[in-house]
Amino acid sequence: MTATDTDLTTGGAAGERALEAAGLRRRFAHPGGDVDVLRGIDLTVTAGELVTIAGRSGSGKSTLLAVLSGFDTADAGSVRIAGEPITADVPWQRCALLPQALGLVQELTAGENAALPLRLTGVPAADVAARTAELLEALHIDGLADRYPPELSFGQQQRVALARALAPRPTVLIADEPTAHLDAGTTPAVLSLLRAHADHGSAVLVATHDDTVHAIADRRLDLAHGTVAPTSGDSGDTVVGGLARSTWLDIPPRPEERHRP
Ligand SMILES: Nc1ncnc2c1ncn2[C@@H]1O[C@H](COP(=O)(O)OP(=O)(O)OP(=O)(O)O)[C@@H](O)[C@H]1O
Ligand SMILES: [Mg+2]
Repeated sequence: MTATDTDLTTGGAAGERALEAAGLRRRFAHPGGDVDVLRGIDLTVTAGELVTIAGRSGSGKSTLLAVLSGFDTADAGSVRIAGEPITADVPWQRCALLPQALGLVQELTAGENAALPLRLTGVPAADVAARTAELLEALHIDGLADRYPPELSFGQQQRVALARALAPRPTVLIADEPTAHLDAGTTPAVLSLLRAHADHGSAVLVATHDDTVHAIADRRLDLAHGTVAPTSGDSGDTVVGGLARSTWLDIPPRPEERHRP
């Protein structure tokens, strides 16, 4: 094991409660009347688990993920990462978010964006470069590292933002529709990295409308009317639209140990 591996490995033991939320409520004020988007959300994601959240557009998925990752504050309730209350300045090594709006720094290149959380926490430059290069290659954007966000397609930008979130090997990874702008040829690389991240001991929570993402999840939750509940009947090869889930996706081999030795 190298120094890099030791410094950047933050996943917990399988089964540990990595992400815990209780009684989350979030209300937005609108001229036509306030909207209660989150009405008492309880959820737990354990180390080593990949959980997906489904829900109609506008159901509150992004609102929930912003609260869980410390980017927004709930009106009531609590969020804990590895037992510690979430704060707005939570290090990305503990909790990293891939936001739906991506949030790339326009003045930085793709490579610099992906490296930013590691650079800000003082990881040696050589380790940052190695880790970022590995992720950009795995996401098939290694040839674009010197381009600025406006010079990239939205799907390419989305993969840069995913690399940025994965680079610190966060204890909790939260991703908001990580495959929304990808084609069928590019999506498997993203699925593979998300699954591998959970398999190496992190907690992964993904909001998605994409059935290929639900297919690699350990559990699926549905968000509706401000609360979450396990998807009814979601065990094994659910048949939807006449196709068994396992036939929808030819999941590629998981990345070798090079992604997390
Ligand atoms: N900052 C805000 N101020 C006021 N209303 C908001 C704000 N953010 C979200 N909303 C409202 O909260 C509701 C939930 O929005 P949210 O973005 O969480 O939905 P979503 O499930 O992520 O949808 P999508 O699948 O389209 O991404 C919507 O009705 C939205 O208009
Ligand atoms: Mg959303």
